[in-house]
Amino acid sequence: MKIGIGNDHSALELKAEIVEFLKEKGHEVVDYGTYTSESCDYPVYGEKVARAVVAGEVEKGILICGTGLGISLAANKVKGIRACVCSEPFTAKMSRAHNDCNVLAFGARVVGGELAKMIVDTWINTEFEGGRHQRRVDLLMEIEERN
Ligand code: RB5
Repeated sequence: MKIGIGNDHSALELKAEIVEFLKEKGHEVVDYGTYTSESCDYPVYGEKVARAVVAGEVEKGILICGTGLGISLAANKVKGIRACVCSEPFTAKMSRAHNDCNVLAFGARVVGGELAKMIVDTWINTEFEGGRHQRRVDLLMEIEERN
């Protein structure tokens, strides 16, 4: 799978771990930055990855900031994005199975490297179940259209 990844300064080390993990699993990773530990603004990177997902440059996105909150909020402002903050594998699994989440977010100040890898692995390997969940996702996206 081709995956876009983005982060702010708080998540530089965890991002590197996740990129390595994804590559070991055979995925292609596009890194949208930030690339240094200099303090930066998470909305910039949340939007970059979100736009790449919507444009089809990458299939899915992964975003990491201190908490996962700010960067997911930024991604969710882009039409077509369903970004979910997941701090454990169960939520990560359900975000795919029921919500067809296309951008995963988590916090470098919340989860450690091993837990983050479990979250990523679960999320990437879970398919959307469709059926009644498709109707609900459609309703969700209609809110975007109306507002
Ligand atoms: C940066 O200090 C921090 O605010 C950011 O990484 C993130 O946690 C925001 O939601």
